Amino acid sequence: MKKIAVFASGSGSNLQNLIDACEKREVNGKIELVISSNKNAFSLKRAKTHNIPAFIFEKKDYNNLEEMHDKIIELLEKYKIDLICLAGYMFILSKNIVEKYTCKIINVHPSLIPAFCGKGYYGLKVHEAVINYGAKITGATVHFVDEGADTGAIILQECLTVNPDDTPATLQKRVLEIEHRIYKKAVRLFCDDKLKITGRNVKIVNG
Ligand code: GRF
Repeated sequence: MKKIAVFASGSGSNLQNLIDACEKREVNGKIELVISSNKNAFSLKRAKTHNIPAFIFEKKDYNNLEEMHDKIIELLEKYKIDLICLAGYMFILSKNIVEKYTCKIINVHPSLIPAFCGKGYYGLKVHEAVINYGAKITGATVHFVDEGADTGAIILQECLTVNPDDTPATLQKRVLEIEHRIYKKAVRLFCDDKLKITGRNVKIVNG
């Protein structure tokens, strides 16, 4: 069974989705710890409800992100973490953690990467941008994490049609349903060792 750390600084609906999947044994993994960069995050309450150890790392307590991530790495090593799931974590991971956990960090993003992603594209801003651009489809992407912002190899994507009367809030709600579905699936595939990565290409083996 894989040992999972979830980094979640927001409401944590994706965290909850993964907690439920592990508890129902839909995923061959266990969430060993939750990390948040925001002490008021609802994700911390979700962790507490499920007796999952949760830790807060605030940037203000460190000289730089590299130093903060060094401390996080110490914790990940202590818990012998196999997989890091980012779910609304507020920072781009620094080189030290990305190198240490190459192909072991995944993220979910609420658009069809490479559209509407990268620096500044988070929360409702993503869906506002989709509507303002006049895009007819959008969706969600689960991808491996590298040093860039939303630039790692894509694992799964699913799309939906943007309706003429969609608002950023309605799109966010519908995209979130996709996020939950494909994130759970990607984590399940990872935990079953079914993801084969060659460069930017991720194949599902014996799927
Ligand atoms: C999600 O939209 C996710 O794609 C993005 O941050 C948001 C987190 O939402 N990376 P939640 O806290 O999991 O509800």
